Amino acid sequence: MDDARVMLETHEMPTHWYNVVADMSTPPSPPLGPDGNPATPEQMGAIFPGQILEQEMSAERWIPIPEAVREVYKIWRPSPLMRAVRLEKALDTPARIYFKYEGVSPAGSHKPNSAVPQAYYNREAGIRRLTTETGAGQWGSSISFAGQMFGLEVRVYMVKVSYGQKPYRRLMMQTWGAEVFASPSELTETGRRILSQDPDSPGSLGIAISEAVEEAAGRADTNYTLGSVLNHVLLHQTVIGLEAKKQFDKIGAYPDVIFGPCGGGSSFGGIAFPFLADKAAGEKRAEGLRCVAVEPSSCPTLTKGAYAYDFGDASGFTPLMKMYTLGHDFMPPGIHAGGLRYHGDSPLVSQLYHEGLLEAVAVPQVETFEAGLLFARNEGIIPAPESCHAIRATIDEALRCRERGEPKTLLFNLTGHGHFDMSAYERMLAGQLENFDYPAEAIASSLAHLPKLNEG
Ligand SMILES: Cc1ncc(COP(=O)(O)O)c(C=O)c1O
Repeated sequence: MDDARVMLETHEMPTHWYNVVADMSTPPSPPLGPDGNPATPEQMGAIFPGQILEQEMSAERWIPIPEAVREVYKIWRPSPLMRAVRLEKALDTPARIYFKYEGVSPAGSHKPNSAVPQAYYNREAGIRRLTTETGAGQWGSSISFAGQMFGLEVRVYMVKVSYGQKPYRRLMMQTWGAEVFASPSELTETGRRILSQDPDSPGSLGIAISEAVEEAAGRADTNYTLGSVLNHVLLHQTVIGLEAKKQFDKIGAYPDVIFGPCGGGSSFGGIAFPFLADKAAGEKRAEGLRCVAVEPSSCPTLTKGAYAYDFGDASGFTPLMKMYTLGHDFMPPGIHAGGLRYHGDSPLVSQLYHEGLLEAVAVPQVETFEAGLLFARNEGIIPAPESCHAIRATIDEALRCRERGEPKTLLFNLTGHGHFDMSAYERMLAGQLENFDYPAEAIASSLAHLPKLNEG
């Protein structure tokens, strides 16, 4: 069968998400409240609906995808599995390079895979409004689209620098009917406090999370949504890997190595976990499978962080989670892959990495964009800066295959297109992009502020 573009019919879309917790040898460490005791469902219930909380805690292997969610998924799912034949030729490699293309969604990335069910479960719970934060705008535009699909109002706190730099992402959200405010804003206690200390604050993801959570916690008709990190988000993203497995079955192939960019870990978990399930089930074809998370060397959470309990946001508003972290007050350098500038990582990805079931590699910014450019010039699709990280690592593996004469099958997650990131490409083309050294001192100093309970 021709494997240039492997498609599934609409009716072949998965009917269930896969929950990796069912196959983990040790149960995940629970999120902790401010007193160091496990966070109670009541605490979390102030900002999340019951069905999302159930998914967050569930150990069931298969969780049904509601029919109403599948109806919206049909706008762009199943997404194609494609073979990068021209890139293979350009690299003169015996490796076969496949990618799962998530840029075909309305928002242009994998993020709607979770935004749609999150909006649905909130509407089912009688919620009228959603809040969220966004940095570069991928998550904010996804939840704006999803809210519109289910008749919910959406308010987005957008990090102030991005609000200025990414007017088209802001306009996308407004086109889908959302209200967008530059964060820090005058609308919340957190925003007002920060503005009183620093009226010119450029904002940060941590501040924007605090504002969105504060508003949701204070209003009964409003809930909060998060675009990565939490178990339920990774669960929703497994639709990527489940489809990819069916597509590989169609062409009688199976990957040897899977690469994905890793920010909060949702798209990486989403593509990798369904394949890890085969490993857990003792399937022979998965014996040698490797799954590699790719992160920026300027924000090397898995490769240089500590495995410890830490806050999910900068202000210490969220429960504590056991994860690889660079410290919640670590301020990563201003690289162009905004979606990978997060101090922590998904607790599920963190634990599986800690247990040796996943691998991680960090790549520098300039080489990452070079890989994105090579991909665009051979395959046509202009990748998001985050996705370029996976492409870099895939190309490096394909070149090793060339040296060793190994015809491996490689799969990477092309998590989004880069149409709203052209200013980064402009800098690349003008030779103005730079690498940031791994900020060892900054990481050491923020790790010194990890919550005290790690010492006990
Ligand atoms: C295109 C794209 N890829 C990857 C990521 C990283 O997020 P995650 O690790 O949750 O998939 C982002 C985050 O914004 C993104 O926009």
